[in-house]
Amino acid sequence: MTTILLLIVAYLLGSIPSGLWIGKFFFHKNLQDYGSGNIGTTNTFRILGKKAGSVVFILDLLKGTLATLLPLMFGIETVSPALFGLFAVLGHTFSIFNHFKGGKAVATAAGFLLGYSPWFVVLLGIIFIIAFYLTSMVSFASVLGAACAGILVLILPSLHLILTSYDWVFTVIMFFLACFIIFRHRENITRIRNKSENVFNFGLNLTH
Ligand code: G3P
Repeated sequence: MTTILLLIVAYLLGSIPSGLWIGKFFFHKNLQDYGSGNIGTTNTFRILGKKAGSVVFILDLLKGTLATLLPLMFGIETVSPALFGLFAVLGHTFSIFNHFKGGKAVATAAGFLLGYSPWFVVLLGIIFIIAFYLTSMVSFASVLGAACAGILVLILPSLHLILTSYDWVFTVIMFFLACFIIFRHRENITRIRNKSENVFNFGLNLTH
């Protein structure tokens, strides 16, 4: 019973549409009507600026981390923490507070990983930053990061490099989450292929 309640809490935590609410309450702008129309960190940076973007990134990240740590806080050992992280990501992408619409899952998935396996986030974070620096596209870095996560999660547990113990629930969830994140970026991928994807004023912008 506690587990089910906490999974609902994880979903509700993930559902908090920080970008949407910060945009509406502090800037009187609905992010869904601007830029990429996404309510995540990237579009917040793009439309509302660095400060708001940083706050949304931290909030969206922490939603995932907090949800993943819920079982630890409540002494639940029978269910993998990965399931709670997954529920937060589902809340973020299908938010009950935004007609079951939401972001593209990157920041909240990173938060989930931070709560589950910080070294995994460090590794993916390095890949993300290098890709972002080379292309100036957050979407490209996100898709590459997700693809690497999907591959690494299948390889690393057997090598015992990052995860201390094997958790097949985590492996399965992360693999499908990686595929899901790539799927959520399908419009970005089309724009990347057409060389019309939004770029940030950062890095080398090698692909345009
Ligand atoms: O995390 C979302 C990012 O990868 C792309 O965002 O707004 O450019 O579609 P956006």
